[in-house]
Amino acid sequence: MSTAGEEAPTVYDQVLYPAAVFPQTHPNRLATVAFLRGVNPAPIDKCRVLELGCGVGSNLTSMAFHLPASEFVGIDLARRPIATGQAFITELGLQNIALHAMDLCEATGARFGRFDFLIAHGLYSWVPHHVRERILEICDEMLQPQGVAYVSYNAYPGNHLRDMVRGMMLFHTAAIDDPQVKVGQARGLLKFIAESTPKSDYYVTAIRSQFDRTVKYPDEAFFHDDLSAVNQPFYFHEFNSDVARHGLKFVGEASANDLLPGKFTDQVMDRMRELEAAPEFVREQYKDFIRGTAFRQTLLCHQEIALAPDILVDRVQKLYASCDAAPEEVKEAGASITRFVRPGGAELETTNPLICAALKILFSKWPGEVPFAMLLTESQLTAGSDESETLAAALLRAYRTGFLHLHIAPHRLATVPGDRPSASKLARYQLKHGDAATNQLHVAIKFPDPVSRQLILLLDGTRNRETITQELIDFVRKGLGKVIEDGAPVEDIDQVAMILRRRVNEGVISLGREGMLVG
Ligand SMILES: C[S@@+](CC[C@H](N)C(=O)[O-])C[C@H]1O[C@@H](n2cnc3c(N)ncnc32)[C@H](O)[C@@H]1O
Repeated sequence: MSTAGEEAPTVYDQVLYPAAVFPQTHPNRLATVAFLRGVNPAPIDKCRVLELGCGVGSNLTSMAFHLPASEFVGIDLARRPIATGQAFITELGLQNIALHAMDLCEATGARFGRFDFLIAHGLYSWVPHHVRERILEICDEMLQPQGVAYVSYNAYPGNHLRDMVRGMMLFHTAAIDDPQVKVGQARGLLKFIAESTPKSDYYVTAIRSQFDRTVKYPDEAFFHDDLSAVNQPFYFHEFNSDVARHGLKFVGEASANDLLPGKFTDQVMDRMRELEAAPEFVREQYKDFIRGTAFRQTLLCHQEIALAPDILVDRVQKLYASCDAAPEEVKEAGASITRFVRPGGAELETTNPLICAALKILFSKWPGEVPFAMLLTESQLTAGSDESETLAAALLRAYRTGFLHLHIAPHRLATVPGDRPSASKLARYQLKHGDAATNQLHVAIKFPDPVSRQLILLLDGTRNRETITQELIDFVRKGLGKVIEDGAPVEDIDQVAMILRRRVNEGVISLGREGMLVG
């Protein structure tokens, strides 16, 4: 854990929050969710974006790189993260982003103008009441009439469990100043209680689940998220009332949040259908009760906008779709069913030839985004039907549960590597400093192996595969990385060359599937 000198004015200067990118905050995501409810957001390739509490600005910098004609402003109270982010922006040579070290309470529309998209991620629950109020005031004052704001926050009921262990950890570590020791002691307490009984009861089971959660966090994030002085969760209905006081209203969640029919009982799904006539915030609140929601990523717009009561299926036809679910043919009682399985295990079965054809096309083009009209035309060629509405409704059903993605605009990427494959300058610069790079879809991908990192550093579009292979062989020969085969390092350089020749070919193909290549 890195710490600054005594002059550091805030705890975020003392312990840097880990740099990250958040695909759910990207203007493409915000615009898509809002567009489907009837908002007409600004085109994302020519928009203005403000991020409050941007930390080192990694989220905003990646967006600024990929949307060069849009303008990005980041604000954070802590000077050290802003200086770190600014140095990277200068190194990349970006002109369309500015980071400001200042209290967001001092930010005004007179100074910064209005924005099409506003992001406050990992901030709202961790600041005092007056700063929270100012965040919502800014969303109202500085958002364009068709603008969309993203505000994430800790939510109840899920956070009651976190509150319970937080109270214990704060008590246990109150007298400890050193962040590293604090983190160790806090986790140690949870582990101690999690292992305190030979047979688990409900209490120990709850503590164990919290311990398991905290060990997955990097130390710095755990320190700030769980051990901070302020950490205020909200029930959705409370947050909804607060945004209404500020002239704002709920548009949707940044990530799909419909209840999955297969995951909950028929009784739950029936009850949710009975709630269809109730106000939207009531339905949203009950979803949180059923799911035990602990974190929300809520999108807001101005109250004056006439939102559609539900997602507009006809607007799906103006969007692009992508899906990474692989098809499997299943024979059941003589019927031919196709099962689509996502890498995380989510499944969708269909006997409808049109939907089946469309999902197969999406998988073959992944991570490419296919415009609805093209998807319909190509699926009809394969499936021999003519049902635009059927396809739109099916895509929407899958989208609502997070099975596939819809996009207001395609990302710039190459899914098939050319003769001289190219990764973005952003990814190459990121891998000079660390082991994670942002792909063309605004998702961070880790490359812990130095040889894999070096492969991407070589993908500047000037080298063919043979040159790349030769340079990688040199890299290994100099001892800068190792080739591991069957769990053991390969020392013989001829064997290294043979393995690298194969791996370069496979590697660029898989980088294309991971959205790491540009055209
Ligand atoms: C938990 S971090 C989140 C950083 C980043 N948004 C993320 O999610 O990775 C919260 C950030 O909010 C900043 N912050 C807290 N109070 C602030 C204020 N009043 N004005 C501006 N930034 C503030 C902190 O300095 C810190 O960088």
